[in-house]
Amino acid sequence: MKGLFITIEGPDGSGKSTITKLLTKYLQEKGHNILVTREPGGTRISEEIRDMILDNKNTRMSPVTEALLYAASRAQHVSQKILPALEKGKIIICERFVDSSLVYQGIGRNLGINKIKEINDFATQNLEPDITLFFDIPPELAINRRRHRRRKDRLERESIKFHKEVYKGYLKLTEMYPDRIKIIDAKQDLDNTFNQVKTLVDELLLK
Ligand code: TMP
Repeated sequence: MKGLFITIEGPDGSGKSTITKLLTKYLQEKGHNILVTREPGGTRISEEIRDMILDNKNTRMSPVTEALLYAASRAQHVSQKILPALEKGKIIICERFVDSSLVYQGIGRNLGINKIKEINDFATQNLEPDITLFFDIPPELAINRRRHRRRKDRLERESIKFHKEVYKGYLKLTEMYPDRIKIIDAKQDLDNTFNQVKTLVDELLLK
C-alpha cells in the first residue's frame, strides 16, 4: 500500500504549525497512521544541517551554499524518513518541502526556479507531494503575526522586500502547479482556516 504525502507551505507566521497539529489530531482520530515532520529537518543529520543554515552567525553563507544545504538536508530526509513511511502506507504531513526552496532560494535569493528545481529533483529522487496546502497571507500581516517571537533565525531576519518576493513566488507556484497546490485563505481565524484544510484533505482521502 502506498501512503499519502501532504506538504504545508506559506510564509513564516502563516499558521502552518498550529494547523499541522490540528490536522494530525483530526486524522489520527479517524484512525490514520500519521507521520508529522518538517523541513529543513526531520532526521538527525537534516536537523544538524538546519542549525547550520539558520544560524545567525553565518552571515557569509552564499546563496548557492544555502540552496545546496537545503537540498542536502532534504535528500537525507526523503531517503531516511519520507520514502520508507510512504512504503508503509502512512500519511505524511510535512511542513515545507521543495516549494520553499523554489521561492526562498529560487526567487528570494534570485537563483532561478529552474536551477533550484533541478538540484531538488536530484535530492528527492523526483518525489512530489500528493497535495500541497499553501497558506496564503500577505507578508505584512504574517510579519505582524510573528512579531512576538523572541528569537528570529537568519531567514526570518531578511528584509520585508525579501519576504514580499517570496510571497509573490508562492503565488507564481500556485499558477504553475494548480492541480497540486491548493490555496488556503490564512487571513481568516483558526476555525475557518482549519475548515478549509479539512475539506481539501477529506476530498483527497475519498479519491
Ligand atoms: P521554518 O521556520 O518554517 O521551520 O523554516 C525555516 C526557514 O527556512 C524559513 O524562514 C523558510 C526557510 N526555508 C528556505 O529558505 N528554503 C527551504 O527549502 C526551506 C525548507 C525553508
